[in-house]
Amino acid sequence: MRIAFVGTGGIARRHAEGLAKREDVTFVGTYDVDAKRAQAFAAQYGGTPYDDLAEMLDQAKPDAVWVCLPPFAHGEAELALLERRIPFLVEKPVSNSLETARRILEEVERSGTLVAAGYMNRYRRSVNRARELLAEDPAVLLHGGWLVGMPGVYWWRVKKLSGGQIVEQTTHTFDLARYLVGEPVLVYARGAKGFIQGVPEYDVEDASVVAVEFASGAVGSLMSSCANQSGGAGVHLTIVARGHVAIFRGWEHSVVIHKSRIEQEQITGEPNIFEIEDDAFLAAVEANDPSKVRSLYADACKTLAFCLAANESLETGEPVQVPAV
Ligand SMILES: NC(=O)c1ccc[n+]([C@@H]2O[C@H](COP(=O)([O-])OP(=O)(O)OC[C@H]3O[C@@H](n4cnc5c(N)ncnc54)[C@H](O)[C@@H]3O)[C@@H](O)[C@H]2O)c1
Repeated sequence: MRIAFVGTGGIARRHAEGLAKREDVTFVGTYDVDAKRAQAFAAQYGGTPYDDLAEMLDQAKPDAVWVCLPPFAHGEAELALLERRIPFLVEKPVSNSLETARRILEEVERSGTLVAAGYMNRYRRSVNRARELLAEDPAVLLHGGWLVGMPGVYWWRVKKLSGGQIVEQTTHTFDLARYLVGEPVLVYARGAKGFIQGVPEYDVEDASVVAVEFASGAVGSLMSSCANQSGGAGVHLTIVARGHVAIFRGWEHSVVIHKSRIEQEQITGEPNIFEIEDDAFLAAVEANDPSKVRSLYADACKTLAFCLAANESLETGEPVQVPAV
């Protein structure tokens, strides 16, 4: 497999570390608007650094590409890949704009290209065990969130670049809500501001709470905060059904599933989840079989629509219907 990267920042390196362990994978090209980054990445993992995307695609001829761009930078790269029908895995969120995502989706569908999105938690054993149980015993209530510190990348704290914490980060939990509970229909969000002071250009909410109504009739509450620096709050998700409660803890989404007062099942989350996700994507490309991918582009667009509806409710102070993609 000849592979290439578009965007060579933090998450690109996480993928590259795992991919570099595979003997059947050759790095053939890297492209980044910051040429020095593309060069450093190529020096470490192999392949040729390019300062022109079309040139990389036409000369290096990759079989599969990882698109690891910040939320504001999507569009051009995906359309160039789709024009050439090159399969790719795009990191979440697929954009900060539903209009851009819809335009890309049109081309994904028209070209029939395999496109995966980076919702890696869908590959976890813990998540899929809960999904299996919830298929028979549907969720009644969900609550969860990302209560963490602020990531270091400059674009994260500027809402028009990142989309804010819901779109950029808690999107993982919004996506799991869809994967485990079903489609959301209505959201109502409230946000907190003014606690975080003195951070240049910072304009995202310090915290938010989003009430969700699902098509099934279940309800949920999804929280985000980047205010806490102690690391004590973290990532969590609890799902309550009539016969089960699934309690996920931490980034690794280890789960305890309570089946009765005495019966429990525990599954520890995989630390190498990006490798598992990338193996599934490459297997799907090799077999030309999208069913091996758990988060396809069209599905990830629905998660974006869900997150952007929450943003709209934050802005308007009104309940917002989650739009169809
Ligand atoms: N799945 C996960 O858990 C996870 C974790 C971290 C980041 N991410 C996602 O990955 C994406 C990238 O995050 P990051 O932390 O790697 O950011 P980053 O800022 O470290 O890296 C982004 C890279 O893209 C480059 N870039 C920007 N615009 C470009 C363009 N138009 N064309 C080519 N290159 C361009 C930048 O120069 C930079 O090198 C974000 O959407 C983020 O949400 C996902």
